[in-house]
Amino acid sequence: MERSEFLAKFGITMAAVCAGCSLAGCGSKSSDPNPGGVNIGGATPPPTTGSGNLFTVDLSSQLTSIGSSKTQSGVIIVRIADGNDPSSFTAVQVACTHQGTAINYNNGQQRFICPAHGSEFSKSGAVLVGPASTSLHQYTVSVDGTTLTVSA
Ligand code: FES
Repeated sequence: MERSEFLAKFGITMAAVCAGCSLAGCGSKSSDPNPGGVNIGGATPPPTTGSGNLFTVDLSSQLTSIGSSKTQSGVIIVRIADGNDPSSFTAVQVACTHQGTAINYNNGQQRFICPAHGSEFSKSGAVLVGPASTSLHQYTVSVDGTTLTVSA
């Protein structure tokens, strides 16, 4: 007996077979785990230990206004106050500790926000809102005249 003859004999149609499939979840859609943002998870992270300068910034032409930021070498540095004192800046890793999406600084809320899943971090990189559960690494900032240096 052919398969089609068997199914016809017992009144089972292919539509009925397929309906059972879709009820079991064959047609379910997968959700996008990273609906927005730029994932830099594959990039080589900057060093988080030891010493050594990562890069410098010329404060006479960059980071001149509060809330302005610069991303370089896997680090985002933000001016958070007037003046050229190291405490006027914060520098943290740009890759979110959840899944590696590049974070942004929101000056109005004075915190870093990940566009992928909404994790939020304080100016020093501490987790304020998940799903991230690990703090961002914070880098050392020093200033000599108008030259700012970010180091590990
Ligand atoms: S990558 Fe998921 S919250 Fe940042």
